[in-house]
Amino acid sequence: EEISYSEAIQKASASITRFPLIPIRGVPLMSCIAQNWDPIWAFRPDPSDLLIATYPKAGTTWTQEIVDLLIHNGDAEACKRAPTPVRSPFLEIHSPPPIPSGLDLLKTMDPPRVIKTHLPFQLVPPGFWENKCKAIYVARNAKDNLVSYYHFDCMNKTQPEPGPWDGYIHKFMRGELSWGSWYDHVKGYWVEREKRNILYLFYEDMKENPRREVERIMRYLDMSVSDEVISKIVELTSFKNMKENPMANYSCVPAPVFDHSVSPFMRKGEVGDWKNHFTPEQSKMFDEDYEKQMKDANIPFRTLI
Ligand code: A3P
Repeated sequence: EEISYSEAIQKASASITRFPLIPIRGVPLMSCIAQNWDPIWAFRPDPSDLLIATYPKAGTTWTQEIVDLLIHNGDAEACKRAPTPVRSPFLEIHSPPPIPSGLDLLKTMDPPRVIKTHLPFQLVPPGFWENKCKAIYVARNAKDNLVSYYHFDCMNKTQPEPGPWDGYIHKFMRGELSWGSWYDHVKGYWVEREKRNILYLFYEDMKENPRREVERIMRYLDMSVSDEVISKIVELTSFKNMKENPMANYSCVPAPVFDHSVSPFMRKGEVGDWKNHFTPEQSKMFDEDYEKQMKDANIPFRTLI
């Protein structure tokens, strides 16, 4: 199956293009998504399905791998049955044929499924909340998230051109990137987390103490796996091991879609890499704007000075 996914991408090569962004209820989405919006909004999950929601580059793939390993009791081979986007479909993605869309893949799978989305809370198909699906949200500090997204937009040839770094910072602050405003995204899920029983995680917490966060996910999913299995999952989902795992490192998406020679999907996996990118002036300007956009949010992001 992993061959067919990569093969489908090869076959679609000629139609791969940097999709322009089209707003859906004010949120800029890649045209391939926006033009297929109705069936996405109408999607009916099963109550047993799990949603993993993130702003792009916040730690989605890492969380998907942890969850798949928990479900398979730490069985590394079982979790190498297919690449990440086949094991855990990307709800709204709609690429040129014959690449299967997220909805196509979901149709071929029996629940319970682990479904990835980057949609902001207000654009998540309401069926998820009507069916009381569980949902895990992962937030990453704004500056590192921005840096990671910049490198990703350089290598992902379906996303709009990132342009120069300084301009990219401003696009991020204005919410003009694909999937919209980071600020609205993290706040949207934060305010809904109790009502919707959303497990709200932070990338920085996962880096600081992966075991604690894996156990938190385990409890949220009402599972109980042994301490040995937890240790194994922590090890298997280290940055180094995932970078070397062809079923987790997105080598299944080759050029011309992801050009890993520009920047590998598994790039650095660190906290604080923004310091290598922001000038002191850019950092000051960003922080002032951040204060304004986040002033009443009360989300416990770490201060990363
Ligand atoms: P960097 O670009 O900072 O390296 P997503 O999966 O949401 O697209 O997020 C990708 C980011 O998460 C990348 O960040 C990637 O390296 C990082 N990442 C992926 N797996 C990781 C892991 N096991 N541990 C830490 N970071 C990881």
